[in-house]
Amino acid sequence: MSIEKPTIEQPETNKARIILEVGAGLFPSPYGMSNKPDDNTRYIAIEPSQTKTKRLNAVLRHEERKDVIRARGEALPIASEKINEVILQNVIGDPRITEKEDDREGLETSLKDIISEIHRVLQDGGVVHIIETYTPNWQKPDDVRLLFEKNGFALTKKVVMKDPLETTGKTREQFKPFMRGEYVGIGSYLLEFTKLPAEHANETKS
Ligand SMILES: C[S@@+](CC[C@H](N)C(=O)[O-])C[C@H]1O[C@@H](n2cnc3c(N)ncnc32)[C@H](O)[C@@H]1O
Repeated sequence: MSIEKPTIEQPETNKARIILEVGAGLFPSPYGMSNKPDDNTRYIAIEPSQTKTKRLNAVLRHEERKDVIRARGEALPIASEKINEVILQNVIGDPRITEKEDDREGLETSLKDIISEIHRVLQDGGVVHIIETYTPNWQKPDDVRLLFEKNGFALTKKVVMKDPLETTGKTREQFKPFMRGEYVGIGSYLLEFTKLPAEHANETKS
């Protein structure tokens, strides 16, 4: 699939809140959470794989307020500043999406390009949730934080699943809304970033 400039003015909706998931795969994150999207929320799933897009459509066939779109994170077919929240769940850790030179040989995607697209489609004050439960070892949370901070975001939340021997055991509870089964293991992390208004965007750049 070639990467093209976004042309589709998505979404055509008057819903109050729009959640965009990039790299949804077969597990649309909000539908695994305790809070399913409510009547005032629209959910848009982006997924580049043709097979997964088809299967995801089947998974969500009974849901009304959703769009499943075959596209890449680095070329989102979404008009600018339309989105309230973005979710990337087990996507940043996908070995095809990495900034590490050694790992990039023959790979298709730059995480920086995806972050820049997310920045474009989010409203000021919009939130990005990074959830890494089963692929956390490809990108460390501090590296991800730096990338977002250099691209107009501020970190607003960070939870890392530590060795249970080092913690009270409560950390696992913090993952609960995002958990499917028992995927959360040591090294799993949640990061939340907020898009800074343009006049503050340079403040976190080093
Ligand atoms: C490890 S899977 C995670 C899927 C799902 N989010 C989950 O938690 O199970 C990574 C997903 O990222 C998708 N992906 C790979 N490259 C991508 C890109 N450039 N833009 C958006 N998604 C991408 C893959 O197709 C795959 O569905």
